[in-house]
Amino acid sequence: MRTHMIFPSILTADFLHLADEIAMVNSSQADLLHLDIMDGVYVPNLTFGFPVIRQIRSISEKPLDVHLMIVDPDRYLEEYRDAGADWLTVHYETCPHLHRTIQRIRELGMKPAVSLNPSTDVSLLGPVLGDLNMVLIMTVNPGFGGQTFIEASWDKIRKLRQMITDRNLDTLIQVDGGVTEDNIGELIAAGVDVFVVGNTIFSSDDPLRVIANLRRAR
Ligand code: DX5
Ligand code: ZN
Repeated sequence: MRTHMIFPSILTADFLHLADEIAMVNSSQADLLHLDIMDGVYVPNLTFGFPVIRQIRSISEKPLDVHLMIVDPDRYLEEYRDAGADWLTVHYETCPHLHRTIQRIRELGMKPAVSLNPSTDVSLLGPVLGDLNMVLIMTVNPGFGGQTFIEASWDKIRKLRQMITDRNLDTLIQVDGGVTEDNIGELIAAGVDVFVVGNTIFSSDDPLRVIANLRRAR
């Protein structure tokens, strides 16, 4: 049986007390820490850059899963590695030479993942699926935390799970956006391995309990 993982996203954390939020994640049952990098061009929002990632890296006991929502990510792959990224996700829609980008991420010593927007079909990843550690199916439009899960994601998840099973690969399926204690069970059943969870964790009065509940969901 596959076991699923929880990657908290600090997008909606309290940035005035970021060290406390990271300490909470350190002491939780979370598997990795998910960082959302936005450039205000590819998505209509901006987040943070290399110095902040470096500082988070210095106190995080969990490896870093860095989700790039930026145009031309190829320009910065090495910088993200140097800042502390362990896993690096690029968007399919931003990479004209996706195969080359994936190879470069691996050469740099990171685990490569590719993300698909809600309107991008999973079949497009067929040629590179075997080169990836993980596929991220965006279950909201990238840019903001706290949005509602897009129902059309179900078909994409099931289709991707079938592609991975048919080819006997161990590529992980990650979802990001609108994951709650109510829908996680059905998502596990549909074949999701990795859950990015922001708002459900950071808007709670008891984030440690929420992470534990998500982690033991069935
Ligand atoms: C959205 C980001 C997500 C976000 C998760 O572009 O990629 O990681 O923080 O969102 P919620 O708050 O829906 O869990
Ligand atoms: Zn994300």
